[in-house]
Amino acid sequence: MKVVTLLLACVVVAQCHSTLHQDETKLDEDLAKLTKMVLGRWKNKRSHRPSRPTSIPRECPVKVGARRNCQKERLTDIARARYWYKISDENTNIDFPLASTIPWLAQNLSETKYYYALDPFESRHLVLLQTWTNILLNTVFPGLTAAFNTTSFESPQEYAIAYKAWQQSVQATKAPQYFANPSQFPTITDHVSTGHWQTDEAFTQRRLTGQCPYFLKKVVDDEDDKGYHVDDLKPLVNTKFFEDFEMKYSATESVSIEQAIEDGRLFVLHIPEMVGIKNVPDVFAPLLQDRKLADVKSPISFFVLGDDGLLHVVAIQRNPVQTSEVDTSESSNWLLAKGEAEMASDLYCQAKIHLGEVHFVSTIYCLSFRRHLSTKHPLYDFFKHHCEGTVPHITTVFETLTTPNAAGSVIYGTGNQGFLDLSQKAFAERDYESNTYEDFIKVRTMRKGFLPFIKI
Ligand SMILES: *[C@@H]1O[C@H](CO)[C@@H](O)[C@H](O)[C@H]1NC(C)=O
Ligand SMILES: *[C@@H]1O[C@H](CO)[C@@H](O)[C@H](O)[C@H]1NC(C)=O
Repeated sequence: MKVVTLLLACVVVAQCHSTLHQDETKLDEDLAKLTKMVLGRWKNKRSHRPSRPTSIPRECPVKVGARRNCQKERLTDIARARYWYKISDENTNIDFPLASTIPWLAQNLSETKYYYALDPFESRHLVLLQTWTNILLNTVFPGLTAAFNTTSFESPQEYAIAYKAWQQSVQATKAPQYFANPSQFPTITDHVSTGHWQTDEAFTQRRLTGQCPYFLKKVVDDEDDKGYHVDDLKPLVNTKFFEDFEMKYSATESVSIEQAIEDGRLFVLHIPEMVGIKNVPDVFAPLLQDRKLADVKSPISFFVLGDDGLLHVVAIQRNPVQTSEVDTSESSNWLLAKGEAEMASDLYCQAKIHLGEVHFVSTIYCLSFRRHLSTKHPLYDFFKHHCEGTVPHITTVFETLTTPNAAGSVIYGTGNQGFLDLSQKAFAERDYESNTYEDFIKVRTMRKGFLPFIKI
């Protein structure tokens, strides 16, 4: 459950970032006030000024030609760091199961726990983890389990009830703000209680401001253009749909799919890497014999840029083969089709982008800088904050993702195996130059200012 929480927390924080700007003006004012206050205090009470947290140790100036540069201390410091910060390779024998393929901290789990519990800086993470676990087990879960026990999750209403129970459990902690759940803020519209989450607007909004809001691609026909090439898309799309479907720009104007592509107004959400991804055996099968776990699919969702300047979801093809059915908002399957698109996108986001690209790829920096920079080096402080908790975070909870049937493996139908396959793929394909948001946006031809923010 720890990992579920951590993953959810990351998701929620990401969503929070995207919604917070509503309060930007207020924030700016508050920040201006705060800055004034702090500066005032700094001027008036120079002697009581707190030392800056990221200050360079005074006794070790970095200036060229400085009389003292602590060469010797730095070398000792790095030698000490290397005693602990060893990086795994194909010969490493530790209990982190991917240590031979992914460079990781070459220490066993129990030693890792001790080290980080004692480390004055990193221990904060373990305290947080322990506290969260206790809160979840003692305060949140009892009420939540009772509520979940009364529902069989067969209708959206039942999901709303379970969600409400979650909200109440979080409130019961008396520290709901630390759950960073946007719906806890009075200024945020709660989409679950209002049922707004079921609307096409909310589905589209999540493509642009939800977790991993950069999977949408513009369909292009010129080989040199970046986006989803029509030649790659067409062989996957239902032929009749591709030829006959009318793309509505407005209530009165419709064009063919080919025309919408030519106009640069057709967008798709489809993740080729999700094609053929397999479910693991359903751990709940003995408990829920009257239902079968649905496969995680790889649907193609079609969006059109309307004359109103907004993006609209117009159709979802549930499987990427030419014989597949295509649903629209008129279909009885529409909500299910949107749910399947959502699940494919979320699994890919969590497994490949989050676990793979964020943790497996970026952690290498966090391990390496400690081997190469002395704690007395000015950049050490910068990296230290940037990397806080990243190693113990994954090392201590990794089992729940890799072990079959553990908490992390029941979030998605593809279980622990899907998570492992996609995250390792991210490591195998790592490319430091293209892993930037700027590039994510460019590749997907969603240039800044091109699409107005979807309004609700
Ligand atoms: C990790 O634990 C295993 C099994 O106890 C042991 O053989 C191995 O040497 C340990 N590795 C390290 C780096 O301490
Ligand atoms: C769930 O409900 C069943 C009966 O419907 C009951 O036996 C069980 O104790 C309940 N579990 C919890 C955790 O409330």
